[in-house]
Amino acid sequence: MNASGPRCTSYDELKVIAKSASAAIVTKSCTIESREGNPEPRYQNLPLGSIQSMGLPNLGYQAYLAMVPELKALGKPVIVSISGFSIEDNIEMVSAFQNSDVDLIEVNFSCPNIPGKAQVAYDFEQTDRALAALCQLGDKPIGIKLAPYFDMSHFVAMANIIKQYPVKFITCINSIGNTLVIDPHSERPIIKPKGGFGGLCGDYIKPVGLANVRAFRELLGDDVQIIGVGGIKSGTDAFEYLLAGADAVQIATCFEKEGPECFSRIENELKAFMKAKGYNKLTDAKGKLKPL
Ligand code: FUM
Repeated sequence: MNASGPRCTSYDELKVIAKSASAAIVTKSCTIESREGNPEPRYQNLPLGSIQSMGLPNLGYQAYLAMVPELKALGKPVIVSISGFSIEDNIEMVSAFQNSDVDLIEVNFSCPNIPGKAQVAYDFEQTDRALAALCQLGDKPIGIKLAPYFDMSHFVAMANIIKQYPVKFITCINSIGNTLVIDPHSERPIIKPKGGFGGLCGDYIKPVGLANVRAFRELLGDDVQIIGVGGIKSGTDAFEYLLAGADAVQIATCFEKEGPECFSRIENELKAFMKAKGYNKLTDAKGKLKPL
């Protein structure tokens, strides 16, 4: 499926996703009020991915709430992504979508691009408090989008928090936040917001995404579904995420660069790769990374 990120803000964009081979329709992370996002330039392609600091441009959650019946009518599961600026914001939005027909609610704890706002996913106490509040608002499955972690103690700390709540899925990883790409000719950063600091995406981050999926699969067992995201642009990339333990995958930068055809191409490549190996279903490979 698409990741909450590029090309999923407007109804027209979501309709394009519905008509593609994406398994679900995932909305751009929404906020209480609509947002224009950060100043341009805020997205630049790089040889092996991209850097972006979009700043959550979105229509505001009420617009997505009103869109749910039309999106559902397109015939695919609808996953709404929300990204409030406080626990209160997230309570308001989760409550609203709990009373809608969306299939899943993804709470984005990891947008690195809002000036002055820290990523909740790096604040373990706040994550704990937020989950305590959000997980009791209804029966609709709720999951969280995590930032990349780089230390084993952080995987353990986050897994121990997640285990305390009925979190149905985690999406990992968001972009690697606050990276800097400099143009040596102009002697300037290549994006404007936050002095050029932005989220790194694409091939660069695939090893980090794979490690995060693997670590959480080992720590969480099969109780929590894992959506892997980060640098998937081929069937073999998706297969590697499956081996690491992902139940599903999302595509962001490749979708931005290639358009909606990427979903059928990657699916076909994955099918062909698995067939050549004699695997018939995803569970033949899921989590079955072999030791060296
Ligand atoms: O800046 C953005 O809109 C990105 C959001 C995210 O990384 O979750």
